[in-house]
Amino acid sequence: MRILSAAVASLALTVGAQVATAAPVELKFSHVVAENTPKGQMAIKFRDLVAERMADDVVVKVFPNSQLFGDNKVLEAMLLGDVQMAAPSLSKFQKYTTSLQLFDLPFLFKDMEAVERFQQSDAGQKLLGSLESKGLVGLGYLHNGMKQLSASEALRTPADASGKKFRIMTSDVLQAQFEAVEAVPLKKPFSEVFTLLQTKAIDGQENTWSNIYSKKFFEVQPYITESNHGVLDYLVVTSAEFWKGLDDDVRTELKKALDEAIAHGNKIAAEKADADKQAIIDSGRSEVISLTDAERQQWVEAMKPVWKQFEGEIGADLIDAAAASNN
Ligand code: SIN
Repeated sequence: MRILSAAVASLALTVGAQVATAAPVELKFSHVVAENTPKGQMAIKFRDLVAERMADDVVVKVFPNSQLFGDNKVLEAMLLGDVQMAAPSLSKFQKYTTSLQLFDLPFLFKDMEAVERFQQSDAGQKLLGSLESKGLVGLGYLHNGMKQLSASEALRTPADASGKKFRIMTSDVLQAQFEAVEAVPLKKPFSEVFTLLQTKAIDGQENTWSNIYSKKFFEVQPYITESNHGVLDYLVVTSAEFWKGLDDDVRTELKKALDEAIAHGNKIAAEKADADKQAIIDSGRSEVISLTDAERQQWVEAMKPVWKQFEGEIGADLIDAAAASNN
């Protein structure tokens, strides 16, 4: 009997030792923006929720400001298992799917409410699965906001942009959008934008109020045109290998924490769109230009033909579904 109890005790010790030493799964979350942005705050919230609720199972480490990977490398790194989560702008998936190019079409959504309605619709939710064949899982959309045009000279009409160099994200739709106003688009990583603007290697760029503010673009761009000509939102992604390799209950809890973090990030996105615009105005460093209806209409007319140009790749039905979310 004594021998049996000793054996049981030793087995319990061994199992106990194994349980105690099983390290939590490490989840590296890499992004390119500052911490005081919707995405930066969402990632921190996610890390904190996971730490509160499931510290024994998963530990989230957040790497902001392109510290770990820049735009053009993060998805490759994810497929290699070097990073487990990221939330690139929807404009940065072109190499993996053409469907998400939808979101880059100029003047497609009239405001962020329309973007939200479309993303939550059946068609929008279906797009989350568009990376499946490439080994990536779309876990949810995250808002940043509507894009504005910043430049070294005042941009009131498309003619003002003609011949000027604009940094764009890696998207052929964005390239076509700037070519439509006879500007010169240059695909460059986010981490290089400030220096390109500061050294005047480029004349302008398009971005949201929170990115223009947090990365100090307004300090080196004397004019920002409030054009609201497109949306800059994100897709939170992970690799299928990582996601499917998690225990079911861990995956469920992680997704719950992520959904809550996204809701938090979306709230911050709405607040920051106003607050960061005001902070830029208050700084006096950059003049914010409001367009008249007639001026805005000129941008719409110049850029909208891009829709037809990409209809074949994106799909006319998808474009119609997205446009219908404005009603
Ligand atoms: C981001 O918001 O993640 C970066 C956007 C950009 O590359 O302009």
